[in-house]
Amino acid sequence: MSDLKTLETEILGAIEAASDEAALEAVRVGAIGKKGSLSEQMKSLGKMSPEERQTMGPALNGLKVAVTDAIAARKDILKRAGIEARLKTETLDVTLPVRPSPSEVGRIHPISQVVDEITAIFSDMGFSIAEGPDIETDYYNFTALNFPEGHPAREMHDTFFLPPDANGERKVLRTHTSPVQIHTMEAQKPPIRIVIPGKTYRQDSDPTHTPMFHQLEGLVVDKTANVANMKWVLEEFCKTFFEVDQLNMRFRPSFFPFTEPSLEVDIQCDRSGNEVKFGEGTDWMEILGCGMVHPNVLRAGGLDPDEYQGFAWGIGIDRIAMLKYGMPDLRAFFDADARWISHYGFRPLDMPTLFGGLSS
Ligand code: DAH
Repeated sequence: MSDLKTLETEILGAIEAASDEAALEAVRVGAIGKKGSLSEQMKSLGKMSPEERQTMGPALNGLKVAVTDAIAARKDILKRAGIEARLKTETLDVTLPVRPSPSEVGRIHPISQVVDEITAIFSDMGFSIAEGPDIETDYYNFTALNFPEGHPAREMHDTFFLPPDANGERKVLRTHTSPVQIHTMEAQKPPIRIVIPGKTYRQDSDPTHTPMFHQLEGLVVDKTANVANMKWVLEEFCKTFFEVDQLNMRFRPSFFPFTEPSLEVDIQCDRSGNEVKFGEGTDWMEILGCGMVHPNVLRAGGLDPDEYQGFAWGIGIDRIAMLKYGMPDLRAFFDADARWISHYGFRPLDMPTLFGGLSS
């Protein structure tokens, strides 16, 4: 019996001394766990004489109840102490200003915004959006677009060439979005009305040129597409994009291998103030190239030029973004400077729509 008294003092003392819930659990396992000191004692009840068992049985059971109660009581105290401690350390200053959410601080890059504006305008006119690969073969980037082998126009593009592949073929980073004209004609039959926004690459770098830039290609092919249709589409686009009611445009003869005739388009502007204003003034600014699709290009796309005709155009997206939003240096577009994007970027929920306003 005196052994039992010692065991009791020992276990109850250890419970009292347990300073956290993990220590308390260790005491519980050590006392009334499967191999605990008290459990071992209870196992010995079977070997005792009936008389001995009569006194030891209730004593051991009583001790077990006492130990279980003491553990529960201590657990309660430790839990409360834990909560008290957390309340002391984990304070929340409700007077601090609310931190702005990512949707408030995050900004959409002007290029993405302008691509959304452009696609909103052309979708409204019944155009679909097409895309093509950034890495092209010489065939799609040049040959199929009626650039003859060795033609100086190939050099004008300052092409980035990839190392030759196993067949000795040198792929290129597409120098314009025009190759997607061919991919589209190969994939679908006319009538075709598509715009192709995408990345293009040329070895060039100054305030208005970057080695990677963006173009918007347009292509219309059917049986009657003509220059008058093209003029209307481009005028509607420019007026809507620059958000002016009236915009004079000037179509000048030019040369592109893939169009005949080829034209360059200037829009009327006023450069007398700090910023360029469109739809007024006496200056002209070149904005895009266009023309009637060359018969050889239709043929390369698998179409019969006696049956089909079309028009196409190419616009520098970065350039019209700079003009519309008054951004002076194109290189800053791709510097990933958070200050620049927070100044020139757009709020994520301000999605451009024709009914809601493109830029407002
Ligand atoms: N691909 C031309 C360039 O990058 C732009 C262009 C001009 C595209 C006239 C056209 C076009 O589709 O008709 O310089």
